[in-house]
Amino acid sequence: MTSPSPNGQPVLEPLRVAMLGCGVVGSEVVRLLTDQASDLQARVGRPLELVGIAVRRLNRTRPGIDPSLFTTDAEALVRRPDVDLVVEVIGGIEPARSLILSALGNGASVVTANKALLAEDGVTLFAAAEKAGVDLYFEASVAGAIPIIRPLRESLVGDEVTSVIGIVNGTTNFILDKMDTDGAGFAETLAEAQALGYAEADPTADVDGFDAAAKAAILSSLAFHSRVTSADVYREGITEVTSTDISSARAMGCVVKLLAICQLSPADPDHPERERTVSVRVHPAMIPRSHPLASVGGAYNAVFIESQFAGRLMFYGPGAGGAPTASAVLGDLVTVARNRLRGAAGPGESSYAARPVSPIGNVITRYHLSLEVADVAGVLATIAQCFAEHGVSIQTVRQQGREADAQLVIVTHRASDAALSATVEALRGLDVVRDVTSVMRVEGE
Ligand code: HSE
Repeated sequence: MTSPSPNGQPVLEPLRVAMLGCGVVGSEVVRLLTDQASDLQARVGRPLELVGIAVRRLNRTRPGIDPSLFTTDAEALVRRPDVDLVVEVIGGIEPARSLILSALGNGASVVTANKALLAEDGVTLFAAAEKAGVDLYFEASVAGAIPIIRPLRESLVGDEVTSVIGIVNGTTNFILDKMDTDGAGFAETLAEAQALGYAEADPTADVDGFDAAAKAAILSSLAFHSRVTSADVYREGITEVTSTDISSARAMGCVVKLLAICQLSPADPDHPERERTVSVRVHPAMIPRSHPLASVGGAYNAVFIESQFAGRLMFYGPGAGGAPTASAVLGDLVTVARNRLRGAAGPGESSYAARPVSPIGNVITRYHLSLEVADVAGVLATIAQCFAEHGVSIQTVRQQGREADAQLVIVTHRASDAALSATVEALRGLDVVRDVTSVMRVEGE
């Protein structure tokens, strides 16, 4: 829509943007919207006008932002009849879900960075966007600035993605990388990461793997055209990883990473009627130093995709932070603005394949175990027998004597998680086994 200006030139009617939240990411989105206004207008074809920012408290100073934009009435903001686009960067389940649903119901397109909400209840949001014929975009929800949602949703939609393996949490990657470099333990490295601002004061969501699990649910839903929620994701964090695990990995030419692993089971040519399943898990794992993900250091993220026709693809970059995440939000904002002007909407939910999620017990991989055992004749034979009874084949055994006791490090061939768990339980019941001090999966070979 245009209207004449005093000099006769048409004035372009802006697309009006409402923001929910103005924290680290939100304030960068506001800055970029302001600083890049003329370029954004050229790219969209209309100005993007910020008309309001909903915040919890008005009394915080937010330098450089017009104070008249702030409101504490988020519901009224998203229900304004003139709002075209809503950016949600408050995070969490409520009130974000209700506000996004109000915005979509009001006919606005929504850009969100909210991984927890998408992973828990994306289905409700997608249905509301579909009903309203508007867009729901969420590039910033996984791996910050790294373009990974659009590649899965659009670029690779003609291919068959078989595996997505990601380092999708910068805090834990920073901690594990530092433990590897410095030889320090988890607790002291976490404290250092907190002091440096890499880890939150309450690091639970990161170190216990909840953040990565939400991202894994989103990635696997897109990759396998199926609904996967955070409750479907098997999750272990990094709090139990010890400096001994890290040095043992090093001795094997490996490094320890917190991985989000999303896999599609292979088709069985002899039984084409057999349903293919997805498995989605987040846990620390040893990967060879030659693996493309092994060299991802510090707080960086990376996602490694394997697909039937494209082969192997690697996406790498900053996975968090104000400006990088705002870059992903702005990319979505321009796209949904363009769609709106064309009277079109981008892709909605694709869950037609409806693949079942298989339990962790069915996962097949290799394992690294550390055991404290009595150093007496016949111990190795007893332990090897235990593995054999559960159908778990040993690849290597390393022993270090410690007076009456010894430490055994065993690496297995590929086995099911269920078989390995049963083996560990049986090992714990053996008189000669003092303790099973560590069990870690070995991936990437
Ligand atoms: N806390 C996350 C991380 C960033 O450390 O990667 C937001 O998902």
